[in-house]
This record gives sequence, C-alpha cells and structure tokens, in this order.
Amino acid sequence: MAFTTVIALLLATSSIVVSQNSSSPSSTSVANASQTSSAPASFVTNLELSVEDLWDLYVGPVSTFSINTTVQPTPIPSSSLIPPPSLYYPSFPTGQQVPLQSKNESWRFPKTFWYGVAGASYQIEGAVKAEGRGPSIWDVLSHRVPGYVITNETGDNADNNYYMYKEDIARIAALGIKTYSFSLSWSRILPFGSGPVNEQALLHYDDLIDTCISYGVTPMVTLYHWDLPLFLQNSYGGWLSEKIVPDFTEYARIAFTRWSSKVHYWFTVNEPIVFCGFYPLPENFFKKTDIPKKQQPYFCGHNVLLSHSAAYRLGKSINSSLSISFKTNGGYKIPRTDSAADAQAVQRAWDFQEGWFANPTFLNGDYPPNLKSHVETFLTPFTDAQKEQINGTCDIFAHDAYTSDFIEAPESGIEACIANSSHTLFPSCYNTTKLYANNYWAIGPASDPGSPWLYKATDWVPAFLHYMQDTWKPRDGVAITEFGISEPYEELRTNLASIVIDPLRSAYYRDYLSAILIAISEGVNVVGTLAWSIYDNMEWSQGYSVKFGIQYVNLTTQERYFKASAFEYVNMFNVYQEK
Ligand code: BGC
Repeated sequence: MAFTTVIALLLATSSIVVSQNSSSPSSTSVANASQTSSAPASFVTNLELSVEDLWDLYVGPVSTFSINTTVQPTPIPSSSLIPPPSLYYPSFPTGQQVPLQSKNESWRFPKTFWYGVAGASYQIEGAVKAEGRGPSIWDVLSHRVPGYVITNETGDNADNNYYMYKEDIARIAALGIKTYSFSLSWSRILPFGSGPVNEQALLHYDDLIDTCISYGVTPMVTLYHWDLPLFLQNSYGGWLSEKIVPDFTEYARIAFTRWSSKVHYWFTVNEPIVFCGFYPLPENFFKKTDIPKKQQPYFCGHNVLLSHSAAYRLGKSINSSLSISFKTNGGYKIPRTDSAADAQAVQRAWDFQEGWFANPTFLNGDYPPNLKSHVETFLTPFTDAQKEQINGTCDIFAHDAYTSDFIEAPESGIEACIANSSHTLFPSCYNTTKLYANNYWAIGPASDPGSPWLYKATDWVPAFLHYMQDTWKPRDGVAITEFGISEPYEELRTNLASIVIDPLRSAYYRDYLSAILIAISEGVNVVGTLAWSIYDNMEWSQGYSVKFGIQYVNLTTQERYFKASAFEYVNMFNVYQEK
C-alpha cells in the first residue's frame, strides 16, 4: 500500500503528537537539530510512516479468517425459513391469524413505514487490514489495552462481513426485510482519516450498496459508528479538537458524492453521548491531552455538533432530497417518586442525554439550560453563526431507544452535587436505577448481565415516542434506529436448537412493536425501525460474550442461523403493515 504519512514524534514521551498527512517528505528529518533546549516537550521530529507501519507500531499482528475473498451468496434453503412454534399465548382473544398471532384490528403500520436491521463496520466487517484499511482507535483499544475488552477479543475477523456481505444481504432479503443500515469504516476510505483516498474501499462499498439494491433492500448509511481513524486521534486528539470538523466534512463529502444517487437515508454519527463518553481514553496509548478528564466528553460533543452540521449542510448542497440526521440514544426517563427533586433530576437527565445533541439541532442551535450552565464554565459558547449552522440539521429524530430508567435526585440533593465537582454524579447530578421505589421490583425482565443498562421496559415506549415528538418536533418524524436486547446467558448455550429460540428477545420485539402501533394510533409520526442487530457481533468492550443478533453466527465456521426473534420481528409487519 502506497499511502504514507508524516507524524511528529514527541521524543521525550514517545507518543505521537502532531501532524498533517501529506505527501511524504523524501527522508526522515529531526526538527531543530542544531538547537539546544532544556524543555523536553519541545523535542519533536517527523517520521514518514506507511499504513503498514501504523499497524505495526500501534496495533501489532492481527488475525485473519480463512475466507478472505468475496463470497457469492448461496441460496437460502426454504427449510431455514419455517417460523418457530408459537412461544406465547395471545393477550387478546380476537381470533387466530396467519401466522402465529392474534391481530388488533385498530393497529396498523403505514405503507411507507420502513423496517430493517442494523450493523456497524467494526462490529461486523472483520478483515481489518484488508485492502488498505488504516487502524482505528478500536484496533488499539482491543489489541493493546489490557482488559478494555473484557474477553480480550478483537474485531479482527468479527462476522467476516467484509467478504460475506452478499450472503448477509441475501439472508435478510429472504426473510422479507427491506432495509439494511450499516456504517462505513472511515479508516478504510481514508486510511489516515484525511488525505489519500483508498479506491479499493470505495469499490467495496459500491458493491455492498449495489447488492442491497439488487435484492430490493434499501441501504441506509451511517458515516461514523465509533471507529475513529487512529491517525486523527494521535494527530490532534480526534473529537477533542476542532481540527476534526474539516476532516469529517471532507470524509462526508467523499461519501455523499459517491453514493447520494443510490442512498437516500444518511446518519452522520451514531450515539455521540456514548462515543464522547469514551473520553478520556486510556492513558499511554494515544496522544496526550491537557483537557481535564471530566471536560473531555463536552469538547467532543462540541466538535461533533460542528462536524455533523457542516456535513448535513454539505450533503444537502450535493443532493437536497437526502434525509440526513444523526442517531441519538437514551431510554425513557421516569421520575422515581413524585417529589419535586426527582422531577428536577428527570429534566437534568433529558438535558445531559438526548437534549445535549437534540436541543441544538432541533430547537435553537444551543445546549439545553442545565447543560449550558455547566459547559460554558470551560467551553466558548457557540457563536450566533455556529448556532445558525447547527439549528435545523436533522430531518428525522433517529433514536436508539433500547430501554427505560427510573431517575432520582442524588441522595445529597441536586444543589450540593452541582456545587461539588468531585461528587461522583457531577456534573449531571441525577441518579438512575432499574428498581421501582419499593427497591424490590425491577422495571422489567433483565437482559444478559453483560448489558446491565438494559431491561425490557417496553410498556414505556408509547410515552417515550410522544415525548420525542412533542419535545423536538422533528419535521420528518421519529425513527427507532436501534432497538434490541441481549438474551440472558445466550453465550452459555451450546447446542443450536437452544440458541435459536430466544424468548425474551422475541417478546421484546413483539411488545415493542405493539407499543409503536399504539403510539401511531395515538398520532405519533413513527416512520421506521431498525432491529439491532442483523446478527451477533463484536459487542465492544464485552467482546462476543453478549449477543444482540436476530441471527446466530458460529464464529468458527462463520455460518449464520435465523433465531426465532427474526421471525417475530418480521411477522409484526406481515400482520400489521398496510399492503
Ligand atoms: C450501539 C451498538 C451496540 C448496541 C448494544 C448501541 O448503543 O450503537 O453499537 O452494539 O448499542 O450495546
């Protein structure tokens, strides 16, 4: 691979600090060679590094899978498309329908409602070094940082989707699923995050998109699902620096220009609340920063809003008919008691979660009050021009809404927490719990212990959908762009027949979609859903131990199998969608 870059190496600490990616200088040079200095921080040199060097120095060897060329799809045997036996009794006795369940005649999904499945590049692609991909921060986190992934697993092979995407698309199409949402790997397209563009990556995504279209599956593209090009993190601190704004915008320009005639739905970033929460990154593996730890997520958020809005406006200038949004995340927030303090805590929770990104884009270009009063103690407020740039830059309210939480004020009281920056709940100063105020019953059945944040709490979904619509008033409606549940202890099951029957996940999809039907019947404009996930995958710091798939993947053979929940999900649309 011919791509090289220049990085400046801080000799005193050996961490990569600066640079620009550019055409390479002819030789390595040492800056200020003839000067003396007693300040080690000023010792900086330039190194010419190839993509391969970046891998070797920062990640080390990676593993590869035996299937390493694009696989042609095999016909999906009709025997694998037989729905499972009924897992439950209908809750209302209006007569047996075909197949599987009773029908509430007052519910319907409109004809235009889209339903699909979702995945993300690092979690499913594998083939991490193939065809010029540069490393991302997740290659370092999984390979180099002990215990960051609790199982010490990596995304090196994941689901081998980079080579098996045709099969994957054929399988969802065979189920009747008409939408597939995936993310692009930024460091495949731009191995250094900016600079030289990798044509092989573009060709790969060309074919992925064309394959979707040939199967009648609508492709939906997310530009960024957490796999930041390593070079950008080590050049200037990644999302901590405003330098990321032009780099992200240029990356978006490449994608919009190439695919806007084939892809209508775009998501700029996935769940900034979560990936800004990755900061501070573990020490001694990335470029150092002087930004105080507790402030880092908010520097990230600031630059995300600037990057997203710049990309949105650019995308619209390329093709004004595109639907462009970001994906936020969070659960419904229920006051744990009827006290005034808990009501206040709930508002803080909205402001520090959804409101952080949704208020600026949907309401007024600026942070919600509780967040603003904190953030402006260390961040320059958005200028009027920036507010104008940010405001109005989401077409749909795309929310990854998995669960719900009870919210309460900190025991010491909200004011005491706000006044004490070393309080564990500072700066948001609210508490969450899954237990009702009686401290005995949980909000619903728990998911796998590896995802303690997630319980099945589908009863709250109608209220949540109303809240989204009433609060942020999205012009093109609300979409649930990720929802799903990890079946408890699924990884302990060893035989196929027990793995593929996933009763909690099946009930989750049935009840969640029923709740959406209720909200639609009450006037909420819900426009689509994406089940997370197309299949079991690399669940970030949980490795492969926690399963979210509606398909099981045997990671030794890379064979895929439908689970019962896949049929439950599709069946709800077979029964309720207007033909
Ligand atoms: C993320 C996915 C993740 C899923 C389950 C979502 O918030 O976007 O990447 O796998 O949650 O934890």
